[in-house]
Amino acid sequence: KPIVLSGIQPSGSLTIGNYIGAINQWVPMQDEFDCFFMLADLHAITVRQDPKQLREQVYDCLAMYIACGLNPEKSAIFVQSHVPEHAQLTWVLNCYTQMGELSRMTQFKDKSAKNASNINVGLYGYPVLMAADILLYQAAQVPVGDDQKQHLELTRDVATRFNNIYGDTLRVPEPMIPKVGARIMSLQEPTKKMSKSDANPKSFILLNDTLKQITKKIKSAVTDSDEQARIFFDTKEKPGVSNLLTLLSIATGRTIDDLVPEYEDKMYGHLKGDTADAIVAMIEPIQQKYAELRADADYLHSVMRSGADRASEQASKTLAAVYDKVGFIKAP
Ligand code: TYM
Repeated sequence: KPIVLSGIQPSGSLTIGNYIGAINQWVPMQDEFDCFFMLADLHAITVRQDPKQLREQVYDCLAMYIACGLNPEKSAIFVQSHVPEHAQLTWVLNCYTQMGELSRMTQFKDKSAKNASNINVGLYGYPVLMAADILLYQAAQVPVGDDQKQHLELTRDVATRFNNIYGDTLRVPEPMIPKVGARIMSLQEPTKKMSKSDANPKSFILLNDTLKQITKKIKSAVTDSDEQARIFFDTKEKPGVSNLLTLLSIATGRTIDDLVPEYEDKMYGHLKGDTADAIVAMIEPIQQKYAELRADADYLHSVMRSGADRASEQASKTLAAVYDKVGFIKAP
């Protein structure tokens, strides 16, 4: 089976953007691929984290992964810092990545503009760690939202460069970006991506917001104040309405083309009400499972343990091959 790897930073609770852009595509892949799903805690510390909170968030995210439908019997679900090869391969790949390439990363530019007092080397090198995450597993496919596309391109460039120097060693991965929902937008500023780091909590929906909060946030979503209060799908002209249609489409499993004629002549309030109901119906069962799982620390530990074992087995093979290619001596 071809290999799939993806991950999310446990730098806060998961948003509905993380669910729709990432996890929702991962779930059906578990039968077709050999899957590795990671909690990217090494990436999370590129922004200052409270240690106690970070620990809790890793448990929260792990429980949420499983509540969303990831199955530890099928997939390796693991914590990045439990597999030291991620940091080790990153060092090697650092030496095959140019500073100019990293300076062009739009996520680095955005994050350093937002966080001018802590532009650390880890934040700059973040995409190299992500390349190591992917290349260690020889992943064929990497299912991510639209905002990770540029990081995937860098990963492909670094892998290709390494292979050109040393011969085929690293599999060059393909990004898998969903057709609908690759970029869920802020509910308050629908021209911006929805993000858990947004200062305004009304702009995002967390998977563990209360159902009441979720309904309220969707009902107070900013819609488009152009002349025609008509409902149609056009992300440029109607970013707010299109975002709601996307959410409704994902939550109902109906296509946008199928939904639009039904709403064309209705009011924005109607679309918001239906979207809120559909999202609540989608999230409610996830929250019920989450509550059970989150209370079972023994189970979560056993998932982490077996996930890390499976991940290490694969990762150590790639690291050994890379060390050998660059000329390191195997410890006698
Ligand atoms: P992160 O934690 O920012 O986001 C995790 C996943 O959620 C997707 N996503 C979205 N999709 C649609 N709409 C949104 N508003 C939205 N916000 C986030 C992201 O595209 C991503 O797929 N660097 C990664 C984590 C990572 C990783 C990896 C991913 C570390 N190593 C290796 C894949 C492979 C990140 O920060 O994602």
